[in-house]
Amino acid sequence: MKSPRRKPITAIEPALPLISLRMPKDASFVNLVEVVVPKCSRDELVLSTENVRTFLGLLEEFRGADLLRRHGLQTRSKLLFCGPPGCGKTLTAEVFARELGLPLIVARLDAIISSFLGETATNIRKVFEVAAEQPCVLFLDEFDALARTRADGSEHNELRRVVNSLLMLIDRFKGTGFLIAATNLEEALDTAIWRRFDDVIVFELPTKREIRRLLALKFKNFPAPSSLYDRVGELEGMSFADIDRICENAIKRTILKRSKTMMDVDFSFAIREALRRKEVRKKLQPR
Ligand SMILES: Nc1ncnc2c1ncn2[C@@H]1O[C@H](COP(=O)(O)OP(=O)(O)OP(=O)(O)O)[C@@H](O)[C@H]1O
Ligand SMILES: [Mg+2]
Repeated sequence: MKSPRRKPITAIEPALPLISLRMPKDASFVNLVEVVVPKCSRDELVLSTENVRTFLGLLEEFRGADLLRRHGLQTRSKLLFCGPPGCGKTLTAEVFARELGLPLIVARLDAIISSFLGETATNIRKVFEVAAEQPCVLFLDEFDALARTRADGSEHNELRRVVNSLLMLIDRFKGTGFLIAATNLEEALDTAIWRRFDDVIVFELPTKREIRRLLALKFKNFPAPSSLYDRVGELEGMSFADIDRICENAIKRTILKRSKTMMDVDFSFAIREALRRKEVRKKLQPR
């Protein structure tokens, strides 16, 4: 059977105009979150083709939510972002919020997690309540810190309480925006968490093609060294954030040398620095 023709992924509609968040009167809420006006644009993000399609589908549903509701259908609104550090989970949440024209409420785990009995669950509930009252993107970063498996015998009863109430809140969340949870420790999540999400989106280390696209982005406003695209193989296995830093360091080095053209040695130096950093990290936190 012939597969249906897919929309070309370049046919993206402009971002929706941004609406702002009405802050609730409850002063304690203000300390539990950071409200971000999303600024990063889609041009700053490199996504796999599969993830682009997923996000386009989600945007399409969001724009057509009223129509779907009239047919008794719910839009997907609860997303779980997984994958290694530095591969775009947080950046994508911001770009997605900007595309939706919604404010981004970033839950502050340091303030939410409390040593007082029962207070963590209360704090999470407050954040969910405000997020459900108005259109926004609620972003729960480092989600594993809240949704750690209850099966782990070493864990405290308080954690069970937190996970139970989190499961209930996610189930009941019927906001007009999105709930996005992100983790790079997906194996630590409680098994009951997974099916609460409408979609799980995996952010992986960049492929060669994605590395090339990232390099093109990073050298949009600065002349690249002649061998740049021959060096993609050396960057394989690194995260987007690592490569981003390599480019930035190489550019800084060139500027400090008062030069307008980057030499291959400047880029090599930045790669060596990244490898050195990786080694140090491995020594300090063996996995
Ligand atoms: N897919 C990407 N496209 C372009 N730049 C990226 C991408 N992923 C990461 N970066 C760069 O790396 C930085 C850090 O990425 P980000 O914070 O989104 O990673 P993360 O997946 O949330 O990591 P963590 O699991 O540690 O929270 C971004 O601000 C951006 O500069
Ligand atoms: Mg992150």
